[in-house]
Amino acid sequence: MFSAIILAAGQGKRMRSKIPKVLHALSGKPLLAHSIEVVISLTPKELVVVTSPKVSEVVSTWPYENLKTVIQDPPAGTADAVRCGLSALSTLDIPVMVLPGDVPLIRASTLKTLLSHFEDAGAALTILGADVDDPFGYGRLIMDSEGRVTQIVEERDASEEEKAVHLINSGIMVIRGSALQDALREVASDNAQREFYLTDLAAIFHAKGLPVTTIKAEDPDEILGVNDRVQLDEVQKKLLTRLIRGWQVQGVTFILPETCYLDTDVTIGMDTIVEPGVQLCGPTRIGEGCRIGRGAVIENSIVEDGAEIRPYSVIEESVIQSGAVIGPFAHLRPGSEIGEAARVGNFVEVKKSKLAPGVKASHLTYLGDTTIGANTNIGAGTITCNYDGAKKHPTHIGKEVFVGSNTALVAPVEVGDGAIIAAGSTITKKVPPKTLAVGRARQQIIYRKIKRREEP
Ligand code: UD1
Ligand code: MG
Repeated sequence: MFSAIILAAGQGKRMRSKIPKVLHALSGKPLLAHSIEVVISLTPKELVVVTSPKVSEVVSTWPYENLKTVIQDPPAGTADAVRCGLSALSTLDIPVMVLPGDVPLIRASTLKTLLSHFEDAGAALTILGADVDDPFGYGRLIMDSEGRVTQIVEERDASEEEKAVHLINSGIMVIRGSALQDALREVASDNAQREFYLTDLAAIFHAKGLPVTTIKAEDPDEILGVNDRVQLDEVQKKLLTRLIRGWQVQGVTFILPETCYLDTDVTIGMDTIVEPGVQLCGPTRIGEGCRIGRGAVIENSIVEDGAEIRPYSVIEESVIQSGAVIGPFAHLRPGSEIGEAARVGNFVEVKKSKLAPGVKASHLTYLGDTTIGANTNIGAGTITCNYDGAKKHPTHIGKEVFVGSNTALVAPVEVGDGAIIAAGSTITKKVPPKTLAVGRARQQIIYRKIKRREEP
């Protein structure tokens, strides 16, 4: 059993942003949410997040249960943040895991290993470290000849010799709760930043003869911290590689995966092919055997088995049933439902509309607030005129209807099953089932007297 404190009250000055650092998005989720979710997966007794007032407002709207927030204002350093966090824990008789809110790639399995090492070693403090090629910016773990950690030195306070150490502090540590409160009182702010550093605990515990141990993360990428936009980009790339590898192992083919972008909540079925430059966002669900064409952008949507999204289509909050073909260059706006084996082709925009199975709208069309029955054909250039300048109105088109090209359907309007609409019609009144509606000026042929100079 353990409790956890996540530190997320820092200003994140190096981001140069009006948005607090821990709220910057990584694969569709704030940095802080990544840390929270990994900790929750280990079912801590209590989870406290130390935040600024601004971050607290946002976190209070998140759906996690049993999460407490404590405000640290002003942010006076990581030790001060832990001090705030401790005040919200009901017991200090169990180990306390401390995590920075800006280390989002950490895996649950690594945290489990850290906890069991802490218990097995009978440590007072166990620090998750990592051997990295470029330790710049991180605190260095200074060890004695017997492999004990004697202190952690921050980059700004390090000597040249200490800077040459490649074993770094991930910021993640497990601490004996009972020893923590006393040790925090001893932390001073006599350092380069005039802050209370949590990392001072190493030297404080060591001086008291309390065992301070460390384990190394097997994959140093897991402990990468995000302090500026360059690091945010580095971490994002690592996370994408991890997410895409995960789907490749599950039987998804990515063509040029390094050009694709995925959010963490996306799921993809077996034998789906994802072409270059695809962007899948939010809790988007792609079924089995789909093809997602080059440059497609799909957000918060469901694409069922065997559907095909052709290149450069944009799909938002929509459902595409199995076997449907969308695009190229189609735009499905929120609330669209495309039935089985239906077809939405080039330069077709659909908004809040339901197309039954087998409907075809292949070219240059706008369908808004519309329902369309099975196997209806919508001709090129059909427009539902759903907006009268003040309100939106619905259009209902039955099944097996043939809408001729360049038809304007002025909503609210209804077209019955099996009706035919002549090309170029403007339909303003209900079309009964199985009728032919013609709503256009009749073509006239007028013979003119040809003047000599016009003759070819
Ligand atoms: C910290 C560690 C460093 C370690 C690195 C790993 C300290 C002093 N240094 O440095 O040894 O290698 O993390 O990524 O701990 N925070 C608060 N309140 C504060 C200050 C910070 O809640 O007063 C939070 C921040 O929001 C952030 C986390 O603590 O989530 C770490 O703070 P940050 O400023 O990023 O520390 P680093 O310089 O990265
Ligand atoms: Mg940091």
